[in-house]
Amino acid sequence: MLVRLLREHLRPYAGTALVVVVLQIVQVVATLYLPSLNADIIDKGVAVGNTHEIWRLGGIMLAVSLAQVVCAVGAVYLGARTAMALGRDMRARLFDRVQAFSQQEMGSFGAPTLITRTTNDVQQVQMVVLMTFTIMLMAPIMLVGGVIMALREDVALSGVLLVVVPVLAVVVSFVVTKMVPWFRKMQARIDAVNRVMREQLAGVRVIRAFVREASERERFGKANEDVYEAGVRAGMYMAVLFPMVMFVMNATSVSVLWFGARRIDNGQMQIGALTAFISYIVFILMAVMMSSLIFVMIPRAMVSSERIAAVVDTAPTVLPPIRPVPLPAGTERGRLELSGVEFRYPGAEDAVLQDIDLLAEPGRTTAIIGSTGSGKTTLVNLVPRLYDVTAGTVTVGGVDVRDVAPDELWGLIGLVPQKPYLFSGTVRSNLQFGAPDATDEELWHALEVAQARSFVEAMEGGLDAPIAQGGTNVSGGQRQRLAIARAIARRPAIYLFDDSFSALDYATDAALRAALVPETRDSTVVVVAQRVATIRNADRIVVLDDGRIVGSGTHAELLESNPTYQEIVYSQLSVEEAA
Ligand SMILES: Nc1ncnc2c1ncn2[C@@H]1O[C@H](COP(=O)(O)OP(=O)(O)OP(=O)(O)O)[C@@H](O)[C@H]1O
Ligand SMILES: [Mg+2]
Repeated sequence: MLVRLLREHLRPYAGTALVVVVLQIVQVVATLYLPSLNADIIDKGVAVGNTHEIWRLGGIMLAVSLAQVVCAVGAVYLGARTAMALGRDMRARLFDRVQAFSQQEMGSFGAPTLITRTTNDVQQVQMVVLMTFTIMLMAPIMLVGGVIMALREDVALSGVLLVVVPVLAVVVSFVVTKMVPWFRKMQARIDAVNRVMREQLAGVRVIRAFVREASERERFGKANEDVYEAGVRAGMYMAVLFPMVMFVMNATSVSVLWFGARRIDNGQMQIGALTAFISYIVFILMAVMMSSLIFVMIPRAMVSSERIAAVVDTAPTVLPPIRPVPLPAGTERGRLELSGVEFRYPGAEDAVLQDIDLLAEPGRTTAIIGSTGSGKTTLVNLVPRLYDVTAGTVTVGGVDVRDVAPDELWGLIGLVPQKPYLFSGTVRSNLQFGAPDATDEELWHALEVAQARSFVEAMEGGLDAPIAQGGTNVSGGQRQRLAIARAIARRPAIYLFDDSFSALDYATDAALRAALVPETRDSTVVVVAQRVATIRNADRIVVLDDGRIVGSGTHAELLESNPTYQEIVYSQLSVEEAA
């Protein structure tokens, strides 16, 4: 997974990556060359008193060091740039994919994990890339180079490596295998903290109202504690790892000095060679340690890359058409027709909607009424393809919605959801959400129709008054009216009001409906409501019961003959009011 993800995302940066590799190679070779130069200075200069040789070799050493520094800096700079760019690209790809998700995929992942995956998991992968470019690339070159150089200095002494390298490798891999499962747990537990936090923020009022603060605090405490535990466990192994590695390294230095000193005594080795040899041993052990770091980070990044890939590989169930069919021009494009529609939520056994045939024409108001849970919202959501029908068709302007280009389809529809959502920004930015070019005049007009003008005027800043994320700084009814104004500002061919008047008092409800009439003269209007007064004047009323249409007609017709409608009406109005 990690390999695939990196291959896909590194492709645009292949050139830079190559440069980094070359720079790293030059850098490591230079680093490896330095101790050998140093040995020569000692053996050929200091030991025999040759000042000229010391100067000459010193000059070369300086030049090599300089080259090493330049290459190292260049490699880190380019490596870091590439890693960051990679992170950016991956986040963009995740975001695009999540944007394309329908409600269904959204629901199956859930927001908290999508957020962690886009932020924390990408960061893990990005970190591995950064580490690869900066230190991990060095490790193998350094290991091989170090061994070659050590052998060049003294073959017999290199025997130490045969003992030390396996010991270090065993120690490191033992600790690392203990550590990895905790990293895996950590990612899942970060998700959990995210989930609890989000839920609490969203439900803060309910939590207060039901005095659940203590138990909620406990719930968060538990999730938080879990992350802490995983972090501490992983950290503990890390803490053991370094002293152990240091111990092996120092023990090695001691034994090299021990054996080396004897060899010098016997005249089998020179002092300079021994100093160089010690440097190479340190390089080799460092390379082994770096490789161990790889083993720490790669598993963690592998976990993360699986989580990222799971999102990227989830195909949205609601797909845009391959060959979009253009919509007819004029008001006819607003003609909305459902025929033989059946809808089943994913995983659900029973269909929520069945045998729905419905025609909503431009210039007319079609109302949908039904008890709670009868499928009204579900039906409305099928039009902008928040979900796709499981059987039958939904057409606009005679074209199946699945064949209409998404932008065109959404441009056609002004949806006021049952739970309207406002974005952080201003009244203006929210109203212009669907109509970026609308002038102030048009916005005020939309507000006026939506019966929102007076309270917006009263807000400090008017159109520029701030709106909090989710619209939490305005009342529920105000939010609903702003959402209505947002739909009106767009001048859509099809209005979908999902229970949009329920938070309004009767007078405002009536005024709004009256103001909407001239506004929607050429548009198709679909009004979902539970309140009879809201829809009694509709051109046609469709009665929904348990996912089926049980009657349709005008208020008078239905009142005459439809028992379900009668039941709804008489639960709200007296006989005189109803007639
Ligand atoms: N995301 C979902 N997954 C599974 N089932 C769902 C989902 N949303 C709604 N349902 C089911 O579909 C049925 C219809 O729900 P819907 O929201 O369309 O009702 P409604 O008529 O809009 O109700 P209300 O008047 O309360 O808004 C309900 O029985 C509900 O249990
Ligand atoms: Mg609903």
